Amino acid sequence: MKKIRTLRGVFLGPPGAGKGTQAKVFCERRNLVHVSTGDLLRREVKNETPLGAKASEIMTRGDLVPDSLVLEITKKRLSAEDCRTRGFVLDGYPRNCAQAMDLDTTLKSMALPLDVVVYFEVSRASLIERLSGRRVCPKCAANYHVREAPPKDDRRCDHCGAELVQREDDRPQAIENRLMVYKDQTRELVDYYTERNLLVPIDASGNIDEVARRVFEKLKDIP
Ligand code: AP5
Repeated sequence: MKKIRTLRGVFLGPPGAGKGTQAKVFCERRNLVHVSTGDLLRREVKNETPLGAKASEIMTRGDLVPDSLVLEITKKRLSAEDCRTRGFVLDGYPRNCAQAMDLDTTLKSMALPLDVVVYFEVSRASLIERLSGRRVCPKCAANYHVREAPPKDDRRCDHCGAELVQREDDRPQAIENRLMVYKDQTRELVDYYTERNLLVPIDASGNIDEVARRVFEKLKDIP
């Protein structure tokens, strides 16, 4: 019987590096499950759940939501059948060493080790340009960029027609804070995963298609 190639990966990098954009493209082409903790948390906020109520203000500021809350939703998502059978890309998780250790424990208990951690490297100027130009659909969560990936109609979502908005945490003060939080808490994961021989750095400069080609090229033989 033909062996099905799954992959279990993490897309790591600063806010605005293009993790979400690339995870979507990569997962569609490799039939993997895209698990974005940002999207999972925004759904909780939108649905006004108790977890969403705790996370909302923290996310608007651009700080990290407490590890225990993020672990709860991530663990639940990873234990679903599709993640087990198809494989997955985690986008936005883990964000610090404590979360990385939680993830190790979770995956070990499921006997599903990580295959790769892709690290997206890009200049600070590009991060700010990408974040401040992002527009999102409040209804179906589609992502756009005013120059790089604009909607067909200037202000409306291509998929559902809703009026696009700017994410609250894409405003200048929150962007500054998110970049600082990344430097203080998340960047240390580069060493964490280098030591475990899982890190694959990717030059994330250039347009979306160029970066996607680099990702496919680097991951074509993994696992
Ligand atoms: P989250 O939604 O994960 O935000 P983030 O990590 O800050 O990541 P972004 O979505 O901003 O950036 P990205 O790298 O995915 O870039 P994207 O592809 O979208 O998290 C939001 C919040 O939730 C956090 O601040 C925190 O509060 C909380 N949270 C989430 N996970 C957590 C965790 N594990 N622990 C605790 N708290 C957590 O691209 C950005 C823009 O650039 C788009 O407009 C896109 O079109 C454009 N773009 C992409 N690639 C290119 C390119 N190559 N050239 C030009 N433009 C590009």
